Amino acid sequence: MNAEPTPTHGADGDIDPDQQPRALDDCRRCGLWRNATQAVGGEGGRRASIMLVGEQPGDKEDLAGLPFVGPAGALLDKALAEAGVERQAVYVTNAVKHFKWQLRGKRRMHKSPAQVEIRACSYWLDQELDDIRPSVIVALGATALGAVMQDAKRTLKDAMGHVMTRGNSRVLATYHPSFALRSPSHGSRDAAYQAIVKALARAKRLADEGG
Ligand code: URA
Repeated sequence: MNAEPTPTHGADGDIDPDQQPRALDDCRRCGLWRNATQAVGGEGGRRASIMLVGEQPGDKEDLAGLPFVGPAGALLDKALAEAGVERQAVYVTNAVKHFKWQLRGKRRMHKSPAQVEIRACSYWLDQELDDIRPSVIVALGATALGAVMQDAKRTLKDAMGHVMTRGNSRVLATYHPSFALRSPSHGSRDAAYQAIVKALARAKRLADEGG
């Protein structure tokens, strides 16, 4: 593990935001690959009608190479079950494919991706959207919302409860599962969790209606 994460943008010649790599692990469009174990792509069937987009892999996902397998993933699985959506029926991915972290004590703590990193990684999200062509996209949190809507200024507060569009897909936005885990009070955690369940259930209804 690197004790001192190296900066993700700077003078280094190996970073090329215009690179068009074929494989995720070859991506040098930003510098996040340097401190990550591996790139974490999306998971799920190519015929999934619902795509869930999170922010970026966390510590567990970075090690496993799969999205949403840590604590946020456990909460997401619970919310999917409560909403009547099978995880196998959805495609799950992230706006950013490498784990960005800083060391606190011995733990690699999540660090929010910068806009330049989110933009660099839109190369991959755009490809996933083209491949899967989901009828409904659920953006989990503000980073995902900005990436899906290609508008960093979109706020979760304004977007929640509305049906937006990206191409032929409907887009819903809700809280990130980590927010429902870390919110300060039991009441706010429960409210965030219920909002996630509600958005997932609405996504299922929209997908069942054919988008
Ligand atoms: N948080 C995310 O946004 N994505 C993951 O895959 C895990 C945690």
